[in-house]
Amino acid sequence: MQTVLILGATSTVAMELATIYARKGIHLQLASRQIRRLSSFKSDLEIRFNAKVDLVEFDVENTESHSDFYLSLEPRPSLVVCLFGHLGKQDEAVVDWKIASRILNVNFVGAVSIMNIISRDFKAKRKGVLVGVSSVAGERGRQSNFIYGSAKAGFTTYLSGLRNEMVTNNVHVVTINPGFIRSKMIAGIDTPAILTASPHKVALAIVKSVEKRKDVVYVLWIWKWIMFVIKLIPEFLFKRLNL
Ligand SMILES: NC(=O)c1ccc[n+]([C@@H]2O[C@H](COP(=O)([O-])OP(=O)(O)OC[C@H]3O[C@@H](n4cnc5c(N)ncnc54)[C@H](OP(=O)(O)O)[C@@H]3O)[C@@H](O)[C@H]2O)c1
Repeated sequence: MQTVLILGATSTVAMELATIYARKGIHLQLASRQIRRLSSFKSDLEIRFNAKVDLVEFDVENTESHSDFYLSLEPRPSLVVCLFGHLGKQDEAVVDWKIASRILNVNFVGAVSIMNIISRDFKAKRKGVLVGVSSVAGERGRQSNFIYGSAKAGFTTYLSGLRNEMVTNNVHVVTINPGFIRSKMIAGIDTPAILTASPHKVALAIVKSVEKRKDVVYVLWIWKWIMFVIKLIPEFLFKRLNL
């Protein structure tokens, strides 16, 4: 039986993904810093799909714990999906280092820490798939969210380099760029429907990308073209835009 580890399992997308994999009879390891919040979800998956579901404590900011966390998994997973993330507030992050560092630690530092540990194990075994959910916010810095955006930029670059290292070791690395997701992360923020994916659509895109061994995936095709155009704008113009 295949085992899938989902990091950041209380994420709206993670719960959709777990439901899809449970239906397929895949053993799930749901990792979260608040596993108590997942106990009724676990029971639901077990009752509806006769699924095997383990809940494991995981805090991405506590990098000291990452090695023991991974060693405690039984069995070790063959597919890992990183879905944790923290948006934070840009206006607070630029004046309060605690807020900025949390954004950087969740989206980049902690992500690198856990991905390093898992990827060394996959490399030694010469098998495994790693999925990182990054963001189009990492493709060009904008005044409204460049702390979060720079952390995601770091994560995207990390995933690209890891994919490059792992290709000859039979380990596959997928980068998912979702665009906006109708999830609790942006609750209360009004985003255009055409630019916003449902958590289910993002989860399906992850499943498909793993099956088809895709490298970099934009969940909504429109974002690929938006970012193409955004990256073409010369800096002397871009810096004057209110984005
Ligand atoms: N929503 C969007 O518009 C959007 C757009 C582009 C990319 N993304 C990315 O998509 C991914 C999924 O996000 P989502 O939209 O599903 O948001 P979400 O529902 O808010 O999920 C975020 C997840 O990150 C977890 N997390 C935060 N800090 C953590 C920590 N210190 N340790 C462990 N887990 C932690 C949260 O756990 P708790 O429940 O314990 O807080 C939650 O499970 C994220 O990487 C996000 O950056 C989202």
